[in-house]
Amino acid sequence: MMATVQMPPQASTIAPEVDALYYFIFWGSVFFFVLIAGLATFFLFRYRRREGRKRRPRSYHNTPLEVAWTLIPFALTMVVFIWGFKGYLDLSIAPAFSMDYHVTGKKWLWEIKHPNGLTAINEMTVPVGKPVKIILKSDDLIHSFFVPAFRIKQDAIPNRYTTMWFEATMPGEYDIFCTEFCGSGHSRMLGKVRVLPQEEWERWKGETGVRDTTLTLPEWGAELYTKNACNTCHSLDGSTLPGPTFKGLFGRQEQLADGSTVTVDEEYIRQSILDPNADLVSGFQPVMPPYAGTLTPDDIDALVEFIKEQR
Ligand code: CUA
Repeated sequence: MMATVQMPPQASTIAPEVDALYYFIFWGSVFFFVLIAGLATFFLFRYRRREGRKRRPRSYHNTPLEVAWTLIPFALTMVVFIWGFKGYLDLSIAPAFSMDYHVTGKKWLWEIKHPNGLTAINEMTVPVGKPVKIILKSDDLIHSFFVPAFRIKQDAIPNRYTTMWFEATMPGEYDIFCTEFCGSGHSRMLGKVRVLPQEEWERWKGETGVRDTTLTLPEWGAELYTKNACNTCHSLDGSTLPGPTFKGLFGRQEQLADGSTVTVDEEYIRQSILDPNADLVSGFQPVMPPYAGTLTPDDIDALVEFIKEQR
């Protein structure tokens, strides 16, 4: 179903169920707001103080009316509770035959391990019409993985797995947000779920990880720069994000947190990618996740050449 004023498109099997409950609560609230505010306004005029009218009614009580306005809201809240609890169970318990994805939140990116072994940053590729289970964790603090089009949201917590699942119903690209405030890069901790039709998915599985050999090293580095979310913290235009800008970085003298200085050369860049907090530039927080194991030596060559070009 297409997006509405209130909701993004329904792109998972669970989405219609979540929306049905949401609209039940929404229109129920609208109905009672109009009823109560309307009656209150009407009574305000109808029973206002007037000449010749008795000041008090004979009785303040109307037992059938009071029982009704107690039992009807009780029944409605129980409907919401049971409906919501059923939805919660459906969202929580993945089908036994789902495909497993391991997702790790860290400042400030999503690392997504696909079932075929590919690790991607901020990009999750799934087939349409197959249940996908996400096993979530965090490397630092609490993040929250949210895909509005699928109506799924779950906290990523350090030292603990949490899980959720979805089955995408429409091919397309859908936003991933971090929805737990996690520091200065929080609003840029964004990703995409790519939902592929079955045949394209089969092709994608075979092609992944193959580097486009027509690219020069700096061009490949430029791709890695966005693919690995380096751009979240390192600008190319000289502006200061959570990490030092890449503009004019190569060859610069940097003061380190321990007071010593270092000239940024190939080896310093390589070290800083693999173990970012070993030689931290003074004035910056030790927030970058180590990329050892995520990037290959070839990837790092390309990034070094890319950084050299940022003058
Ligand atoms: Cu991660 Cu907000």
